[in-house]
This record gives sequence, structure tokens and C-alpha cells, in this order.
Amino acid sequence: MINTKNISKTYPSGRGVVNALCNVSFSTPKGATLAIAGKSGSGKTTLLNCLGGLEQPDTGEINCFGIDIHALSKKQLSHFQRQHMGFVFQFGNLLSFLTVEENIAFPLMLNKVLNKKEIKKRISSLLEKVGLSELSSVLPNELSGGEMQRIAFARAISHSPKMLIADEPTANLDTETANKLVQLMFSLAKEENCSIILSTHDQDLIKLADQAIYLFDGRDATNG
Ligand SMILES: Nc1ncnc2c1ncn2[C@@H]1O[C@H](COP(=O)(O)OP(=O)(O)O)[C@@H](O)[C@H]1O
Ligand SMILES: [Mg+2]
Repeated sequence: MINTKNISKTYPSGRGVVNALCNVSFSTPKGATLAIAGKSGSGKTTLLNCLGGLEQPDTGEINCFGIDIHALSKKQLSHFQRQHMGFVFQFGNLLSFLTVEENIAFPLMLNKVLNKKEIKKRISSLLEKVGLSELSSVLPNELSGGEMQRIAFARAISHSPKMLIADEPTANLDTETANKLVQLMFSLAKEENCSIILSTHDQDLIKLADQAIYLFDGRDATNG
């Protein structure tokens, strides 16, 4: 369960203070898919960064699976992120000097839970699930945009996190590829019992999620 209460965040700017988030609250059960919708500048990235512990809200609470993540020390937070969170960004951010399988192995190496043989098995199962087994030893620059995002997704869930944060993972994809990616992400996450919080401005993608929140100027405008 992910629970947030009255999250607010402001940024100083040349034009005065920007209210990037204003009293946003929601809760979503374990394994559920949640879409954060809203126009550019509505606060989606700020909300996701706060949820992922990448930024600190000014006020409010964020409780992920019983843990108040912003009450953790830096060390405890990075341990929690490494173990229980996965991230996908707008540009896959694959490491260009590592092959597809080495990219996917990265979080597993950091966590040191699986041995070499188990890591190999996990990677080949994930590659099969995202339908890219034949690309295991290629470098990211040989992949299409859609393939990159599928690999970025496989990497983000390789260590079986409890929650995945995906910030506009489809922003650079055509409509059909975007739809397929999100369907794959949602169905695989359910299989793995991983909650997904995904931001998008695409109305069709929002419909695929269990829950949706609409942000407008940093406020929750879901009900009007
Ligand atoms: N680091 C920052 N410094 C100043 N203003 C910021 C910063 N990050 C975001 N903002 C402002 O906060 C608002 C919300 O931004 P953001 O969360 O990136 O929205 P979205 O992801 O929906 O496009 C925007 O007005 C943006 O300009
Ligand atoms: Mg954004």
C-alpha cells in the first residue's frame, strides 16, 4: 500500500514561488496500477520524484508499505530504494557501454541477493517476458525506442521491487508502441505483484490503469 497525505512542494523561481504540488493525497493498494495525468508543468515529475524519494516534499507524508520514506536517513532511504523501488524515465537511460543483459543485471548486482546462476536465469526470464530474448548481447544504441523502453522496464523490475515509478515512459514513442509498452508493463507488474505509478498525458493510456489522478497546476483535479 502506498499512502500519501497533503504533499506540497514549492520551488523558488525568477517569477516568484512556483507551487509545483499543492496538498496532493491518495492511496493505492499493493500491486495496483496508478496513472498520474496532467499537462506539461502540472506537477507529475515533482510528485513522482517525491514518491521515489528523489526529492523531499516541503510538507506532507508519503508512506510506502508501512515506511514513512522521508523520515528515513539518507542511507536507509537508498537501501529502501535499491531494494524495493524501480525507476523508468522518459529516455530509457540505459548505460550505453553495457549490453542489454548487463543493463538488466545492474540492480541485481547492487542488491547481492541472487548468485550468478540465479541472475542469468532471472535475466533470461525477463527478456522472454518482454519479448526481446534475441537482443540479450546487443548494446543499447542498436535498439529502437520501444525496445529501449522495454529493456529499461525489465531492468527496473529485475530485483522484484514493490513499486515502480515510471515518468512518461512513452513520451518518445508512437501511439501503438506506447500502448503496447504500457499494456506489457501493467500485465507484467501484476504478475510480479509490483505497484506501478506512471505519469502520462495520453488519455488512452490512463484508461489502462486501475486508478488515475489528474493534476492541474499542482493540485489534484480528479473530481473536477
Ligand atoms: N527544479 C525546479 N526549479 C524550479 N521550478 C521547477 C523545478 N522543477 C519543476 N519546476 C516547476 O514546477 C512545476 C511542475 O513541474 P513538473 O513537476 O516538472 O511538471 P510535469 O512533470 O507535469 O511537466 C512547473 O511549473 C515547473 O516549471
Ligand atoms: Mg515531467
